[in-house]
Amino acid sequence: MSIKITARSTDKPHEIAVDLLVVGVWAPSSPAKKSAKGALATLDAAMGGALSKVLEREEFAGKAEQQVAVHTAGRIAASKIVVLGLGSKDASDAAHLRTFAARAGRAANAERATSAVIVLPEGFESKLRPLAEGVELGAYRFTRHFTGDRKPKAELAEVVFASEHKFAADAKKQIEQGQGVGRGVNMARDLSNEPPNVIFPKSIADLATHEGKKHGFKVTVFDDKEIEKRGMLLLHAVGRGSSHGPRLVHMSYVPSGKAKKRLVFVGKGITFDSGGLSIKPAQGMGEMKHDMSGAANMVGLMVAVAAVKPDVEVHAIMACAENMPDGNAYRPGDIWGSLDGKTVEIINTDAEGRLVLADALTYAAGLEPDLLVDNATLTGACVVALGMTWSAFYVTNEDTRAKFASALKESGEQMWHMPLVDEYKDQLKSDCADLKHTGERWGGSITAGLFLREFIGKTKNWVHCDIAGPSAADRPSGWNVKGATGHGVLTFLSLIERSAK
Ligand code: BES
Ligand code: MN
Ligand code: ZN
Repeated sequence: MSIKITARSTDKPHEIAVDLLVVGVWAPSSPAKKSAKGALATLDAAMGGALSKVLEREEFAGKAEQQVAVHTAGRIAASKIVVLGLGSKDASDAAHLRTFAARAGRAANAERATSAVIVLPEGFESKLRPLAEGVELGAYRFTRHFTGDRKPKAELAEVVFASEHKFAADAKKQIEQGQGVGRGVNMARDLSNEPPNVIFPKSIADLATHEGKKHGFKVTVFDDKEIEKRGMLLLHAVGRGSSHGPRLVHMSYVPSGKAKKRLVFVGKGITFDSGGLSIKPAQGMGEMKHDMSGAANMVGLMVAVAAVKPDVEVHAIMACAENMPDGNAYRPGDIWGSLDGKTVEIINTDAEGRLVLADALTYAAGLEPDLLVDNATLTGACVVALGMTWSAFYVTNEDTRAKFASALKESGEQMWHMPLVDEYKDQLKSDCADLKHTGERWGGSITAGLFLREFIGKTKNWVHCDIAGPSAADRPSGWNVKGATGHGVLTFLSLIERSAK
C-alpha cells in the first residue's frame, strides 16, 4: 500500500485526529521550563502539563538518540505522542532531515499507527523532499512472506507534515519527488531482501522489464546464449554451475529534452553466492542472498530517476548470475576469455563478483559514458577495513573524486575514499593467462578494484563502490531498517541530478 503525504500549515497540530503525533525537539531542551515556547509548549498546554512531566521523568534533553512515547488519554486528538530528540541544532542537512522523518516512520510502525502527524521544527517546512524520502524509508518493512498473525495488521497510510509556518509553493512537488525516490530505494531493498529461490537472474530481469514498462524506461535483456555469443565469457563462466542461467540487463532512460551528460551505472547481481566450488562455510551463507544488492540498486535507481526526470541520459546495467557448485561449474585453474579480450586465470571461484563485473564494465565502457560508476558487494576485506556501515569508493582521477564527494555530501551516505594502489598490480600477474583474478589476502578490496580497472577500456572517469558492508544492516539506524538498505542509490541519484545542472 502507499502512503499519502500532505503538508498543512497550522498552529494547532493537536487538533488533527490521527493515531500518532510525532514532534522533534532540539538539544539542549528542558521541558519543565515554564518559559518554553514552540510546538512542545503548545502540546504540553493541550495535555494539561502531562507531557512535560513525562519528559522530565525520562530525563529527555533533546539528544539525538532520545525518544519518548506518551499516551494522550483523549486530551488531544491524537492517540499517542512520540517526542524525538534532534540533537544539536548545527546538524540540519538533508541526511538529518531524512533521519528525523525515518524515525517517525519507524515509530509509526512500532505504534501500529495508520495515520500520523509529524510536527516540523522551524526551517524544516522548506525541505520536504528529504522528509518525504525519510517517511517512505523509515516505514519500510519486508512482510511479503508473513502469513496469519505475523502479517502486520496496521500499515501507515496517511502522514501530515504540520508546521506553523507557510510551506513553499512547490511543497506538493517536493513531496512527490521525495516519495518517488524513497520508493526507488525501497524497490532496491525489496529485491535484495527476497530469498534466492524467488530472485534469480531470469526473475530479476523480468522484474526490471516490468518496472521499465511501468515507469517508462527501456530494458534490454541478454540471456545465457546471447551472453556467450557476445563474448562475455567471464559472466558466462560464473553462471555455469547454476540451473538458472546468467542474464545481462541493460536499462536506459533518455530525457525528453537534450541530455547534458551520459552516466552509466553497473551493479553486481549474484543472486546467491555459495562460493561455487571454492564453497563458503555454512555459517551465514544465507546472507549471500544479498549479493545482488548492487543490481537491486540499479532497478531502484531507475525507478527514482523516473520520478525526478533529470536532463541526463542514465544507463543502469545488471550483471546477474548465481554462483553454485556443480558438474558444469567453473573451476579454480580454468582460464576464460572476456568481452575485453584479456584472458583470466581463475584462482578462487568465490571471487566471482569481479568476473561478472569485468564483462559488464567493458560493455558499459562501450556506451562511452561521461562517468561510469559500479557498485558491488565485492569483498569481505572491505567490511574488515570499514565495518558494517561504511562502504569504500575508488576513483580514476581527482576531478571524479571531487564530484563524487559532493554527491555524498548531499546524500549523507557513508562512503570512504580508498586508493587504487598501483604497486599491488603485480599480485594480479598470472603464469599462464593475461591476469589472475585474485591477489593476496591483505588489501583485498584494493586488488579487487585494480582487477576491475583492467576492464573499463577507454573510460576516463570511473568510480568503483564496494558496498559489501552497508548493503544490509543488522539493526535499524539513520533512515535504514534491519535488512537490505539500498545503500548507494541516494548518492548515485544526487550525482545524476548534479550532472543535469
Ligand atoms: N560476496 C562476497 C563478498 C561479501 C562478503 C559480501 C561479506 C558481503 C559480505 C564475494 O563474492 C566474496 O566471496 N569475496 C571473497 C573474495 C576472495 C575469495 C578473494 C572474500 O571477500 O572473501
Ligand atoms: Mn563470492
Ligand atoms: Zn559475491
